[in-house]
Amino acid sequence: MAQALAHADDATAAPPQQGGALDRLRIVGGQRLNGAVRVSGAKNAALKHMCAALLADGALRLTNVPTGLRDIASQTALLAHLGVRVDAQGADMTLRVNRLTSHTAPYDLVRKMRGSILVLGPLLARFGRARVSLPGGCAIGTRPVDLHLQALRALGANVLLENGYITATAPQKGLVGAKVVFPSASVGATENLLMAATLAKGETVIAGAAREPEIADLAACLAAMGAVIEGAGTSTIRVQGVPSLHGAMHRVMPDRIEAGTWMIAAAMAGGRVVLKDADTQHLAALTGLLAAAGVTPTPATGGDLVVEATGDRPQGVDIMTAPYPGFPTDLQAQFMALLARADGAALVTETIFENRFMHAPELVRMGADIRVQGNAAIVRGVPGLRGAPVMATDLRASVALVLAGLVARGTTEVHRIYHLERGYENIVEKLRALGAEVERVPGQFA
Ligand code: EPZ
Repeated sequence: MAQALAHADDATAAPPQQGGALDRLRIVGGQRLNGAVRVSGAKNAALKHMCAALLADGALRLTNVPTGLRDIASQTALLAHLGVRVDAQGADMTLRVNRLTSHTAPYDLVRKMRGSILVLGPLLARFGRARVSLPGGCAIGTRPVDLHLQALRALGANVLLENGYITATAPQKGLVGAKVVFPSASVGATENLLMAATLAKGETVIAGAAREPEIADLAACLAAMGAVIEGAGTSTIRVQGVPSLHGAMHRVMPDRIEAGTWMIAAAMAGGRVVLKDADTQHLAALTGLLAAAGVTPTPATGGDLVVEATGDRPQGVDIMTAPYPGFPTDLQAQFMALLARADGAALVTETIFENRFMHAPELVRMGADIRVQGNAAIVRGVPGLRGAPVMATDLRASVALVLAGLVARGTTEVHRIYHLERGYENIVEKLRALGAEVERVPGQFA
């Protein structure tokens, strides 16, 4: 029987079973990783597809949803508050709007996760108005929403900022297609505009669109619902508006950041890891850099990817984050953990977020030699890391510390692991199945 995660009458429904927020992860370093690991569905795709359900007259059935993640639970709670019925069973999720119960995404639900701003475009396009709390800054940077607002204004929406909320209203006859030129690529703004444009009158052209694979996956989901979209995954997307969208079924793409994290873990720890359900096409930038560092992932039968490594020190290689198809900012922290033990120095340049080096001082506590200057960090590889108590500050920083713990001498305790639960499904079980010595320890930060 389907488990009702949350629905219109139960806005306070609890998130899926999770441990205490202050639990920590204890890792004893030095084990090689061997075995197979299945990559879950992409968090950063599923969160947007869930919002797309607001656009449909019928039910949207999503498969391969990482329903165990905290972010998916947060989005479920927000959609339930708006009146969407969300039923989940395993990795299957069905979302249906019977009757919208609110146009407002309140601060308490939005502040937990920025991905919630993606209800703005769908609410406005289908229901004519939306009130969404400004998400504010977060640990990795200020993260403004000006591009989202500029895009919706171009379709004719009246958008105001008042009392910490974005209030957007569509013209009486609905949104109207337009040409929108983004001055810089934004994943979220492209997605909000894409969803709004599906129900706008006439053609919308999105120039300077972000090209991340999650956008192409969202477009495929919208197309299954009856939307007419060309060019998603390129920098120019054309959308022909339609009067309504219908229910559909869509399989969420594999999580390329989770896959990349496992690849880096295997390269660091040594051993032989087979990645199941990864889409290797999405990982070309990482594969190239891993090869330069001395570990070449190889494709295997059935679409699997094998990462085999000795666990010896990698070569230092410079990395610079960039919008897709460049090296993803969401893998920068993990790659820095790899570089911490490299033979040689490397320059890490972060070009997407202004404050995404919080893992650096924690890695230094484990013996790494890293100097941060502005948006660049010089990592001088050391022969080995030492276990230490460390503090997770955001999702990717947390997992970087876990990877460092896998290769450190002695015991590492990663505190505040609730960050990890936002984006890595069953990470402890997956690590243990590969032979890592990892356990979850309940309790307070001492
Ligand atoms: C998405 O965030 C992801 N989140 C992020 O993943 C990811 O790091 C990021 O894309 C870049 O790939 C989700 O998909 C939920 P952006 P998003 O808009 O859409 C600036 C993770 O760890 N900007 O592409 O918020 C912005 O400040 C997370 O899973 C504006 O200036 O990212 C940043 O510098 C973290 N104005 C740059 O653009 C705007 O209106 C790119 O941000 C919007 C963005």
